[in-house]
Amino acid sequence: MNWNDSQQASDKEIQLELMEMGKFPRHIAIIMDGNGRWAVEKNMPRIAGHKEGIESVRDIVKACSQLGVQYLTLYAFSIENWKRPMSEVSGLMKLLEHYLRQEIDELNANGVRLRAIGKINSLPKVVQKLLKDSEVRTKDNQGLNLTLALSYSGRWDLVRAVQMIGLDIRRGKISPEDINEDLFASYLQTHDLPDADLMVRTSGEMRLSNFLLWEMAYGEIYISNKYWPEFRRDDIYAALSNYLQRERRYGKTSLQIANEKQNVSEESYLQRVFNAFKKS
Ligand code: FPP
Repeated sequence: MNWNDSQQASDKEIQLELMEMGKFPRHIAIIMDGNGRWAVEKNMPRIAGHKEGIESVRDIVKACSQLGVQYLTLYAFSIENWKRPMSEVSGLMKLLEHYLRQEIDELNANGVRLRAIGKINSLPKVVQKLLKDSEVRTKDNQGLNLTLALSYSGRWDLVRAVQMIGLDIRRGKISPEDINEDLFASYLQTHDLPDADLMVRTSGEMRLSNFLLWEMAYGEIYISNKYWPEFRRDDIYAALSNYLQRERRYGKTSLQIANEKQNVSEESYLQRVFNAFKKS
């Protein structure tokens, strides 16, 4: 199914309004929280919450792709989540397997590039294979970069990067003086992704929970009170609208940011005049 052809006109209109509001975040990261509570409140088993959570994944991936968001990273399973009851863990792995089997054709047909970050070799072999196949199949796609964080934790990735840097120093490939922020980031599993601009967390909780610790250094945080299974495209639109009204200062003052914007628009005006002059 082509996602753009099947889109409702009213939804397209909302998306166009958002696009006119300003510069979209390049990279959105989501902590999909509250599946268990959603199910328990409905007297259902926790796994039913994860199942319904997949419907939200479908809708949000589609909406982000339609909006032209470049990178979307979903925290689907943390290293700490292995401590949950065996039945919930195996239920989640089954759902993941089902999702990959069922969705990959549609994702691929809509230009999505799928990748995974985390301790992938700790996942069931069948999931590892599906992930590998999906990565290979979608590697040349030019649309949304969808990254699933699976058996992932930010501290684990940071420690792993330090270990690999240590090994490369021992092998003589680099020296300690070469280490700077860019070099360090190139050793992270997220080295192919830009820093996160916006992190959304559902269910009203206000924590990073070990997600993208390095990559969120200057990212904006948006908390939704909805449980993940209730979080759908209108909610990501609300998050984006909120983000687009913020001022990102990166440690500078408001005045500096305003001057920079002014300079950019003056520069592009001068460029336009220059181009017109060259053509005449
Ligand atoms: C957190 O809610 C959610 C998870 C640990 C799993 C998220 C997984 C999915 C949405 C389904 C699989 C994902 C993909 C990408 C196919 P919780 O269980 O911690 O909720 P609680 O805080 O209410 O207990």
